[in-house]
Amino acid sequence: MFPSLAIVLTLGVAGLLGARALTRDDDPGVNVERHEPRPVPAVTKPGGAPSGAGRPVLGAAVEWALLREPGSYQRLFLQHYSSLTPENAMKMDALAPTPDGFDFRSADALVRWALDHRIAVHGHTLVWHRQVPAWVTERDWTRGELRAYLKRYITAVVRHFRGRVRSWDVVNEPLTARGSLRRSIWERVLGPGYVADALRWAHAADPEARLYVNEFDLERFGPKSAAMYRLLRALRRRQVPLDGIGLQAHLTPQWRPTGRELRAIMRRYAGLGLQVDISELDVAVGPGDAALVEQASIYRTVAAACRRLPQCGRFTTWGFTDASTWLGSAQRPLPFSSTGVPKPAWLAIADELGP
Ligand code: G3I
Repeated sequence: MFPSLAIVLTLGVAGLLGARALTRDDDPGVNVERHEPRPVPAVTKPGGAPSGAGRPVLGAAVEWALLREPGSYQRLFLQHYSSLTPENAMKMDALAPTPDGFDFRSADALVRWALDHRIAVHGHTLVWHRQVPAWVTERDWTRGELRAYLKRYITAVVRHFRGRVRSWDVVNEPLTARGSLRRSIWERVLGPGYVADALRWAHAADPEARLYVNEFDLERFGPKSAAMYRLLRALRRRQVPLDGIGLQAHLTPQWRPTGRELRAIMRRYAGLGLQVDISELDVAVGPGDAALVEQASIYRTVAAACRRLPQCGRFTTWGFTDASTWLGSAQRPLPFSSTGVPKPAWLAIADELGP
């Protein structure tokens, strides 16, 4: 533990000094070319665990409206990442904004761009309690009607992207903080069986796709991570198609696991025969340079836990530059600054997961 602490402090101080220098140099026109060499993540077998040296694939959530334009956001992404998760472009409110069919235009353009650039696409997300279009939430459904609709939706979307999107967050955030099933429209109307049904329908639509359940606040021991273990175990015992669990890892200095705790939790999920990926990592911090050193130590903890677990095939942050984050730039949660300059967090990631 001590050597890595020394590395963190060295990197952190170097990064901090660098960050201070970088702050002075924080120039809107900063040349992204002077960033760390792109860590070359192992190429992932289609939808599977990484091949080769067993390093996880490095990914980030992206906003298509920013990525599609040639510029520093696109250049920075292409310089460092091999996988993307559409932050919003594949959610139900984007793909089914009205009851009359689907709008795949943006998602198709994003997937086409990704494949042209040899970037793997992780589909996000088929079933969630948020970003459900109003025409769905405002309608008074019978169980049969809503079940038929959800089956039709999952089947149509997964079939549409078959062969281009090789892994999916099928069910996102099914649990409450206490570990009960969240009372979403899906659970209220369809009952607890909606989780297994959604996975079965996605598998039937694309038997090659790797299927995930994705959740936040699993990274520390507690009722939620324990309940998720029971849910996943039950699904596996019933041979419901399921390949992995995504630990979103939206962390802060106040809510962060120790390395030992995170490794134990990840090993436990892996013991169910599942991939255990880091799917949405970000670390919101307060002002000041010292906060960036602490942030780097949290990124390093998660990256090291992923590197040490063979079943951790994907290390994805929820965005990559502080210029575009759901938390707001002031929280500085991501590995690159708002002007695309590497922070100590990026140095820690590259040190743990790089070549
Ligand atoms: O598309 C509309 C646009 O038409 C409208 O003009 C604009 C202003 O109201 O809103 C736009 O929708 C926004 C959407 O992002 C697309 O930009 C929603 O208001 C906004 O709430 C939504 O936020 C997203 C959030 O999920 C929704 O809950 C964030 O960008 C996205 O990063 C976040 O991502 C989630 C993951 O999917 C699941 N895990 C947690 C993570 C963070 O909440």
